[in-house]
Amino acid sequence: CGIVGYIGKASAPSILINGLRRLEYRGYDSAGLAVLEDGRVIVSKAPGKVASLHEKARHDWPAERFARCNTGIAHTRWATHGPPTEINAHPHLDESGDIALVHNGIIENYRSLRTRLESKGHHFYSETDTEVLSHLIGDNDKGDLFQAVCDALHQVEGTFGIAVVSAREPDRIITARRGSPIVIGVGDGETIIASDASAIISHTRQVIYLEDNDIAIVTADHVEIRDLDQVPVTREVAELGFDAEAAEKGGFEHFMLKEIHEQPDALRNAIRGRLDFNLGSSVLSGMGSSARDLAEIQRVVMVGCGTSLHAGLVGEYAFEDLADVHAEVQQAAEFRYRNPLITRSDLVVAISQSGETADTLAAVREANQKGAFVMGLCNVVGSTISRETGRGVYLHAGPEISVASTKAFTCQVAVLLMMALKLGRGRRFSREEGTRLAREIERLPELVEKVVTQSARIADIAKRYADHEHTFFIGRGYLYPVALEGALKLKEISYIHAEGYHAAELKHGPIALLVEGTPVIALANDIPGKDKTLGNVEECRARGARILGVITEGDHEAAEFMDDVIEIPACHPLVSTIPTAVALQLLSYHIARHRGCEIDQPRNLAKSVTVE
Ligand code: G6P
Repeated sequence: CGIVGYIGKASAPSILINGLRRLEYRGYDSAGLAVLEDGRVIVSKAPGKVASLHEKARHDWPAERFARCNTGIAHTRWATHGPPTEINAHPHLDESGDIALVHNGIIENYRSLRTRLESKGHHFYSETDTEVLSHLIGDNDKGDLFQAVCDALHQVEGTFGIAVVSAREPDRIITARRGSPIVIGVGDGETIIASDASAIISHTRQVIYLEDNDIAIVTADHVEIRDLDQVPVTREVAELGFDAEAAEKGGFEHFMLKEIHEQPDALRNAIRGRLDFNLGSSVLSGMGSSARDLAEIQRVVMVGCGTSLHAGLVGEYAFEDLADVHAEVQQAAEFRYRNPLITRSDLVVAISQSGETADTLAAVREANQKGAFVMGLCNVVGSTISRETGRGVYLHAGPEISVASTKAFTCQVAVLLMMALKLGRGRRFSREEGTRLAREIERLPELVEKVVTQSARIADIAKRYADHEHTFFIGRGYLYPVALEGALKLKEISYIHAEGYHAAELKHGPIALLVEGTPVIALANDIPGKDKTLGNVEECRARGARILGVITEGDHEAAEFMDDVIEIPACHPLVSTIPTAVALQLLSYHIARHRGCEIDQPRNLAKSVTVE
């Protein structure tokens, strides 16, 4: 979900709606805003996207009234409790109707709080946990909103990023966080609050990141931060590193297509200055600098969710093959709840584009607790995971707006390869081998460029795969995780039921689903295992499947097995995972486009899932 708050001299509704648009990728099933006008709180909400809220607000309020409101809060929702209706949309009011609240996170003890408040005469209209918090604040308000929010938050279990306004104290917004990010943009005579800096960047680059259990009084020209016990705390003002233009579509039809095309540059940024060709190693200070630290690592455990989990799977192969170190990847939520065996000699790598995914964050805390050497592999600078891990490597992929992750994935894999290279050189990898791999990694931008330029051809191929309800992706070895990621991408944005399988596994059950024309996307690059994959392709063809092969450029032998092919330039087998993934991103994109899907904001998904 996304939060925006504004206090200053400009028209709050306009700024809030523009801010929500930038945050829409975090959730978009309903939206709402509350502004202060002549001593009253005015609320407008709508189910659906921010555009529907804009329509509704324009209809509800004449433009001159819009301009007069200079303080307000707004929210775009990804439903957790209660369906995405207008009533369940934020902001929520307290019993008096004077206090409005927007909230990200989950109030775990909302049922008992609600029962208690109902017995005191409070009326609830929504099914949300958030409405309980707004009533709780109102119930505690004895004339000081800040105090009331502190008192309420003391009674709450769970996670929150909140912004609160009150008609009785129109000169301020109260904001607080625990487990859900809040950034405060400090402008000139105006202050903007958001759950994500992309809603702030067009106003100011000066930002303050709240820490857990911080609560702030925000006015147009002042920010005062305390902890929940009201003890003042100091947080530094940081400068945002990306600009507003980077978050715009830049002429592409969708953010996803733009981000696919940005990958040569994103990879260049992820790699820049990190390869050492003389030593045949990589320079990643965030991994721990002393050779002794690295020598002590007995095992690498990666944790992540969704696409980041798949990047970790590629990492698993890289660490074992290059660095001779035992490696495994675990779904982050599972890691937390299964009591993992973690020791001080384990390197735990939390992989997360947003750096905010609740399950991954919980895994970080678990690993920290168990004394592991924990590092983050995040894209969003200053995100919670990057801060809680304390050390790590940033991807430098630039802002990723499309819900389906593309450039973050390829940069995650590139960084994991560099990590494995560094660890490998400290162990069995020779300098020559190291230099050879470093040179291959250096080629990544150029390799990916060659795939991206095939976009129009892939769009053509995609037409033949767009009208099926089931699609299989198969691969072996390094390409097995890429098959899983290819299937995830396709189901996320095209709503085609897609499954990724190890090529050998297909015959152990899933092959029963193949009928005449069922698409099978076979990752058959010329790397170890290719011949066996081609054998599996034959098994699929014998059942009438239509085969799209991703193969190495000029491999006529492999092409013979396929109905259609996408060619990837020849490169190191581990490095080939990246251009192969890019080919599958383009395939999914064009299939989804042929099907007329809402590519950047697929139904039911959110870019960053800050609930468990
Ligand atoms: C959500 C997104 C996925 C993403 C996953 C992990 O489910 O829809 O695309 O891969 O979260 O996100 P993270 O920011 O931790 O990489």
